[in-house]
Amino acid sequence: MEKQQLLYEGKAKRVYATADPDLVIVDYKDDATAFNGLKKGQIQNKGVLNNKIASYFFELLAAKGIVSHYVRRLSEREMLVKKLEILKVEVVVRNIAAGSLAKRLGLEEGTSLRRPVLELYYKDDELQDPMINEYHLYALGIATEEQVRELAAAALKINEILTASLQELRLLLVDFKLEFGLFHGSLLLGDEISPDTCRFWDAETREKLDKDRFRRDLGGVEEAYEEILRRLTGGN
Ligand code: TMP
Ligand code: ASP
Repeated sequence: MEKQQLLYEGKAKRVYATADPDLVIVDYKDDATAFNGLKKGQIQNKGVLNNKIASYFFELLAAKGIVSHYVRRLSEREMLVKKLEILKVEVVVRNIAAGSLAKRLGLEEGTSLRRPVLELYYKDDELQDPMINEYHLYALGIATEEQVRELAAAALKINEILTASLQELRLLLVDFKLEFGLFHGSLLLGDEISPDTCRFWDAETREKLDKDRFRRDLGGVEEAYEEILRRLTGGN
């Protein structure tokens, strides 16, 4: 499958057309941003690591019945995916208070939540992705009630699958962000699942093994991403 014209360039990925109008190629970059693009940098080899980590998660979810845009990994940095019409909503699931939730509710980072929290954010860079609720989605025509029911159920199911599988690798899934899109009318999981979009902590030491190392200048960023891939696949 050959790359054709560049369709879209985001902060961490480029998307290319292919000869098949239903399929696009995602090319994972090393560029990293935080705080809505205010902080910019590069994480050496991130594109390669995230492509492998996201492929691993999409394959794991597929085996458990969660359909995504993922078709197959093509190369070190490239993934073949179905072309979705992405819904303008980011779906965040949280198991442990961290980041913006800890700040907003005055919780100490690391506080366990009694049950998972699902949050919705309006995907709009200029507005810095404000938090919204399902009624905003209906009012703005971003999603229907049925789609919101479907994506919320999928997000919570994905949380159960990933939490259980990461627990075996001595990792805590603190929180993560998902995006969904439409493919010929059906709702599919899109985007990526990687240390850019999840918080992973070592279960014993609670060491951060994700993009918070970049956001908070903790050092050892590339090593953290490598550690995640190593635990998931044994280094392959
Ligand atoms: P937050 O605590 O900053 O709201 O982040 C919650 C989760 O969502 C965390 O795992 C990081 C992820 N995330 C993204 O993938 N993209 C974003 O733009 C933001 C703000 C968070
Ligand atoms: N990805 C977002 C940005 O580029 C935020 C983040 O991941 O912290 O700013």
